[in-house]
Amino acid sequence: MENLKKKLQQIEQSQVIEFLEAISPDRKASLLRQIEGLDFQKIPEWVKKYVKNQDSVKIPDHFDPAPSYPARPNTAEQVQRYADAVKTGQDLISRGKVAGLVVAGGQGTRLGFDGPKGNYPISPVQNKTLFQIFAENLLAAGKKYNTIIPFYIMTSPLNDAATVAIFQAADFYGLGSENVFIFQQGSLPNFDFDGNILLAEKDTIASSPDGHGGSLKALCDSGAMADMQHRGIEILSYWQVDNPLVRVIDPLFIGLHAADKAEMSSKALLKAGPTEKVGNFCLVDGKVTVIEYSDLPREAAYRKTEDGSLAFELGSIGIHLIDVSFIEKLNNGGDFALPLHRAVKKIPYMDKNGNRIQPQAPNGVKLETFVFDAIPLADRSVILQTVRAEEFAPVKNAAGADSAEVTRQMMVARAAAWLEAAGAQVPRKSDNAPDCTLEIAPSFALAADDLKAKLDQIPPIKPGSKCYLG
Ligand code: UD1
Repeated sequence: MENLKKKLQQIEQSQVIEFLEAISPDRKASLLRQIEGLDFQKIPEWVKKYVKNQDSVKIPDHFDPAPSYPARPNTAEQVQRYADAVKTGQDLISRGKVAGLVVAGGQGTRLGFDGPKGNYPISPVQNKTLFQIFAENLLAAGKKYNTIIPFYIMTSPLNDAATVAIFQAADFYGLGSENVFIFQQGSLPNFDFDGNILLAEKDTIASSPDGHGGSLKALCDSGAMADMQHRGIEILSYWQVDNPLVRVIDPLFIGLHAADKAEMSSKALLKAGPTEKVGNFCLVDGKVTVIEYSDLPREAAYRKTEDGSLAFELGSIGIHLIDVSFIEKLNNGGDFALPLHRAVKKIPYMDKNGNRIQPQAPNGVKLETFVFDAIPLADRSVILQTVRAEEFAPVKNAAGADSAEVTRQMMVARAAAWLEAAGAQVPRKSDNAPDCTLEIAPSFALAADDLKAKLDQIPPIKPGSKCYLG
């Protein structure tokens, strides 16, 4: 005990045992376990570098736009390259080398939804949840390529038990419990502006999930990596929990990544405007690097090229391919740590007198790591552009932009476009929006091309009707 007190003194965090003598023995044991879990070595550095220092993000002096593959090939050479890549990707998938990974540890505060965000009902006709849509996509891709595609799901201590219960209640959406691996990310303590770790309760350190970058470590710590290696998985297809349009298994993307011997790759969108709230793909010292929208200098955000397009036009949408061997390399490299990012937040805490305070204004700092900070650590990295209407409709907010309403409209619009491309008739309103509510189950079609062979199974779609193709 004396030893622990001394260690806390050395890192100037003795306040975390302020109430030690006032709590019951089992709560005391719990608090001591939390304290032992703190990174004593790194905390003083975090306080100095990230908590007290408001300019912790260093924007490089020089950075350029990152090169990318266009969404559609536009030269004969590219057409050939894409066709070869699709074959390579299909081969890797059918040989069982690819698995899915969704990061679902976030708190989803902006959406105001109670429970894990993956349980948010979103599909336009059947009201399927995000988790169900992802699982059905993996199941359908597994069937299409005659293989099993395991599903790894990262949760946080805040939503792990609830996520496990959701999957159990849904009988793992048909994937088989043995093919679903739910694992927890780590947590980091929360600080006040002076660098003191806050107590959430007398016996509880205030902490929060360590960001999606925590996945790279948690995959190893949880045994998920060992499971992948046992199965022979080589590439992880990574996406964020809020985007039901994501093409979870994309042969073209996988093939380009493999053909270029990339270790970590990304999908990108052409930004809707200079300041769209997405990360920006840049090139720093020859390495692909994401600079968050909030950190991109205004001049760079608005800079135009000769043809009038934005110089930094590629936005990050949280879709990556990550080699299992790359994750292993990072973790075996000794003290692997991604940079921390600070977020100023309202953090409920216990004051000196033992009163629980709900602050009305930001009172402290939460620290997080971002998975895309691993991209510059990769030897090689590919960026493939994708099309917004095809692959990006995140549910982030309760209303307005990036709300469920917009996402559902985009799901219907994509289904309509796929049906028309296959030769089916879709009723449209005078403003060209579909005059019907459409949903295509992943088991029916994973992409527009899959619909062509199923035209005879598509009933006539009446104006104003609801149509589910499953
Ligand atoms: C994120 C990206 C942004 C990108 C946008 C696209 C960051 C910092 N920014 O923004 O570049 O353009 O998505 O939609 O990521 N998560 C965890 N654990 C955590 C924190 C987050 O698993 O500790 C997961 C969330 O559940 C979610 C994803 O990471 O699936 C993204 O987190 P979120 O906070 O929603 O990111 P955005 O700020 O929307």
